[in-house]
Amino acid sequence: MRRTPVIAGNWKMYKTKDDALAFIYAVNLEVPEFEKVETVICAPSIFLRDLVKREGENLKIGAQNMHYLDEGAYTGEVSAPMLRSYGVDYVVIGHSERRAYYNETDESVNLKAIQAIKYDLTPIVCCGESLEIREAGTTNDFVKQQVIKAYQNIPAEDVLKTIIAYEPIWAIGTGRTATPEQANETIQAIREVIKSLYGEKISEQLRILYGGSVNPKNVDSLIAMPDIDGALVGGASLDPTSYLTLVKAALKK
Ligand code: PGA
Repeated sequence: MRRTPVIAGNWKMYKTKDDALAFIYAVNLEVPEFEKVETVICAPSIFLRDLVKREGENLKIGAQNMHYLDEGAYTGEVSAPMLRSYGVDYVVIGHSERRAYYNETDESVNLKAIQAIKYDLTPIVCCGESLEIREAGTTNDFVKQQVIKAYQNIPAEDVLKTIIAYEPIWAIGTGRTATPEQANETIQAIREVIKSLYGEKISEQLRILYGGSVNPKNVDSLIAMPDIDGALVGGASLDPTSYLTLVKAALKK
């Protein structure tokens, strides 16, 4: 069974309005059919409305974070119903930068994933270990625990509405990529944990991405690995040509 590959750009806190729009104009007509590669740009929330208005059939827009409640007195936050009402389709949940700088916890990641599903947003649920954990040799156990906690109270019928992104923290924005074998091995471990929770069929259908210094040079070898279903990409998603190279690489999947 083929898993449709996903190339999700994560712009983080980069670009201004004109750059964001120029990017969309440059890639909109160049991306392949959505059934071949799910092409997603996760942008700062201030750009979302303009990007959704201009997205073509084969490009979808995502947010980088959201709150787990419908509404409330939470200054500066954005809710799932707000994203849905603007036609946003994806949301990154539990990125390691949010875990490190904004008190994101396994519990809030879980609540946000549930909330995203409720509002028909596809959560891209992030997990990944620090260098310390990698060097201690406990990566797979650590990541498995993150996944178990993230999927608490998510019923089997909702699992395929989600995507997982495995992003080793030591590889994010550092230019130091996990080797394709390292990435595939941990992603396999994640698939095993999903299998133990939800059974083989779901584990074989769930898309699991790799993230961490993916670029036009290393993308082919990562994408070629059997368990890697695409990439969550920061730096290399900012430039249209570079981003399109990644999307084209995913076409070979
Ligand atoms: P990077 O970021 O590609 O710049 O390493 C990946 C991410 O943070 O999602």
